[in-house]
Amino acid sequence: MHIVPVASGKGGVGKSLVAANLAIALAQAGKRVVLADLDLGGSNLHLILGMPSVTGSIGSFLDSPKDQITALLQQTDVPNLLFLAGDAEIPGLANLTASQKRLLIRRLTALDADYLIIDLGAGTGQTTLDFFLTSSHGIICTNPTPTATVSAYLFLKNAAFRILQSAVGTRGAGAKYVKELFSDRSGLRQIYLPQIARELDTHDSEAGLRFRRALRSFQPRLIMNMIDDPKDAEKVNRLRRSTQQYLDLDLLHLGVIYRDELQDTALRARLPIIRYKPGSVLSQAIYRICEKILQMEEDTDESVLDLEVINDSFEAAEAEAEQDFAGKLSYIEDLLDTGTLSTGDLIETVKSQQHEITQLRRQLDLYRKKLLTAVDQGFSI
Ligand SMILES: Nc1ncnc2c1ncn2[C@@H]1O[C@H](COP(=O)(O)OP(=O)(O)OP(=O)(O)O)[C@@H](O)[C@H]1O
Ligand SMILES: [Mg+2]
Repeated sequence: MHIVPVASGKGGVGKSLVAANLAIALAQAGKRVVLADLDLGGSNLHLILGMPSVTGSIGSFLDSPKDQITALLQQTDVPNLLFLAGDAEIPGLANLTASQKRLLIRRLTALDADYLIIDLGAGTGQTTLDFFLTSSHGIICTNPTPTATVSAYLFLKNAAFRILQSAVGTRGAGAKYVKELFSDRSGLRQIYLPQIARELDTHDSEAGLRFRRALRSFQPRLIMNMIDDPKDAEKVNRLRRSTQQYLDLDLLHLGVIYRDELQDTALRARLPIIRYKPGSVLSQAIYRICEKILQMEEDTDESVLDLEVINDSFEAAEAEAEQDFAGKLSYIEDLLDTGTLSTGDLIETVKSQQHEITQLRRQLDLYRKKLLTAVDQGFSI
C-alpha cells in the first residue's frame, strides 16, 4: 500500500482540500483508497467530503483499541473510497501517547488498500512528523506567501532533524554528538545537514550510515497551492534550492494549483470540487497531480522512521524544543542566503506586520478617546 500523508508548516494552505480531492481522483482511477482524517482536534474532512453523518472515528478506536479499525471505515458515495473520520473531541495529535501512536500507525498501515491518504494538522509537532515519516513520499503543501514557504522549509528541516535523532538513537557517541549539537544553538545555526552528516561519521560511523540511508529514502513531494500568478511557480524552485543546499533533500515538485473561486461555490454546495466541477482549473490540477502520482507508483515506498524509535523519550521532546528555537533563529538566514526569501519578501512581511500594529494602535487610540469622552460626560452629569 502507498501511504500519502499530507502536511504543511502553516495552517490553511489547502491540505484537506488536496487530501480529499486527490483521494477521490485516485479512487476514480480504479485504486482502492482509504482517506484518514488525522487532523485530530481540527477535523473537517467529513465536511469537505460532504459526508451527511459520521459513524465511527479515530477517537472511538483509541478508546477501545481492541476493535478493528476496518469497522470504523465508512463507505462514501465515491466507489473505491473509504473514509476514516477524525475526532474533534481529541485536542490534537500531541496528546497521543507513544504507544497509541505506534498502535495507530501499525493498524493504519496494515489496512488492505492501494492508497492510504492521511490528512494531517498543520505544524511540526513530533507526532505529526512521525506520521509524515511513515512514508518516504509524503506531500508537503504550501502557498506562495513568504510565511507559508518559510514554514514549509522549517517543516522539512524539522523532519530531517527527526530522522537524524532516530538514526543516532539515545545511546552512544552519535547520540551524544547530536545532543550536544541541539544544545548548542549557535552551532545549529551555522551548520547545515551535509556537514552534520560528515561530523556524525567521525563520531559514530554506523549511525552516520543509518542517517544517510534514511535521509536518502526520504523524498517528500511538494504542492504549491493557491497561486495567482504564473511567476509564483518560481518560488517552488527557490524552496527546492534551499532544501537541497541546506538539508540535502531532493524535493520533488508535484505541481501547482491556482486559486479557483469555484472552490467557494463547491464548499457551499457541500461537494468536493472534483465532483462538483471536474472541469474547473482546480480539479484539473488535482487530476494532473494524481496522474503524476500514478506514474511514480513504481517508486519504492517505505517508512523512513523505525516504528520502535517512536517512544516517549523526554530527551526527544527537549531536543525538539531546542530545534524549534534554533530553527527559528536560522531559517531567515538560510532563506535569505538561498533566495527562497528575498529581501523584498522580508520587507513585505515586516511592513504587513507594521500595518497590523498601526491598525491596532489606531483602534486603541479610538477606544481611549471614547473612554475619555465617556468619563468626561460622566463627570459633567
Ligand atoms: N486552490 C484553491 N482555490 C480556492 N480556495 C482554496 C484553494 N485551496 C484551498 N482553498 C480554500 O482555503 C481554505 C483552507 O483550505 P484547507 O482547509 O484545505 O486548508 P488546510 O491546510 O487543511 O487548513 P488547516 O491547517 O486548518 O487544516 C478552505 O476554505 C479551502 O476551500
Ligand atoms: Mg485541514
